[in-house]
Amino acid sequence: MPAHTAKARAGANIALVKYWGKRDARLNLPAAGSISITLSGLETNTRLHALHEGADTDELVVNGQCLPVDRVGAVLDLTRKLAGGGPFFRVDSDNNFPTGAGLASSASGFAALVTAADQVLGLGLSKSRLSELARRGSGSAARSIFGGFVEMKPGNIDDGRDAVAEPLANCEHWPLKVVVAITATEAKSVSSTDGMNRTMQTSPYYPTWVATVAADLELARRAILERDFELLADVSESSALKMHASALAASPGLLYWNPATLACMHAVRELRAVGCGVFFTVDAGPQVKAVCLPGACAQVADRLADIPGVARILICGLGPGAEVVV
Ligand code: PMV
Repeated sequence: MPAHTAKARAGANIALVKYWGKRDARLNLPAAGSISITLSGLETNTRLHALHEGADTDELVVNGQCLPVDRVGAVLDLTRKLAGGGPFFRVDSDNNFPTGAGLASSASGFAALVTAADQVLGLGLSKSRLSELARRGSGSAARSIFGGFVEMKPGNIDDGRDAVAEPLANCEHWPLKVVVAITATEAKSVSSTDGMNRTMQTSPYYPTWVATVAADLELARRAILERDFELLADVSESSALKMHASALAASPGLLYWNPATLACMHAVRELRAVGCGVFFTVDAGPQVKAVCLPGACAQVADRLADIPGVARILICGLGPGAEVVV
């Protein structure tokens, strides 16, 4: 029975084996798979409120600020189509992590959006269908539907039905921690979509990058299932560095790092060399995410906080998938 309003929450996620490139830009189909961890502590809460009958568009408010409805409206259109119609909505979305900190909110945002839309329209979709819908908003959002360790399948059907995420292991399987070092607070220079497109169109390394992902997925899957931290560290750092290498070789080259990003990466490597359980990953921006064994978290946070240029440290654990909040 369709309701008038619904609320959902979802956590951000960080890829250990990166997604960088699309096989179909319109449907947001990834060129290769990816593996991520869903985080606790960095989350989006989204409330949908049905607008009165005369309304002719959705409305979007993020952290109290009205924004163009763009992709949010397009994803809501897809859910209304599945429901055979439905009202326009006011979407009130709040991120509990610092805005302008360069942490992608699109993954948690679209995962929370489709979960709330499913509830308010009474669709009762499976997690897999929700993942497919979230993917239409942002490729990485497909993964935030699930908690813990998650794998995104690239699929091979043209309509994208099989390009969905699935759970690999839950949070309790291996309660890793993530220390996020914020090294710049201004908005990032090139969005992931633009960066991916430029890499696909101009980087001579792009085909090689795509060709290596399947082997990395295999290693990461094994490392997670066997809780082999060294293996996960090696494959994750390698995947991040290869993604950035392909982007650096685009024309013009995409340089997402600043001096503090690099200093954090070196510090993480130095810590690991002396036996501390930590590795780094970096996305389409300058922030460094240091993934650690639970016992290493305090030492890693202290070390990264001391690096000149690190403005702030956030500490997260692994969290659940997107869910309706009552
Ligand atoms: O979901 P998008 O379109 O913002 O792309 C995410 C790209 C990376 O964050 C760099 C990698 C990933 O797999 O999350």
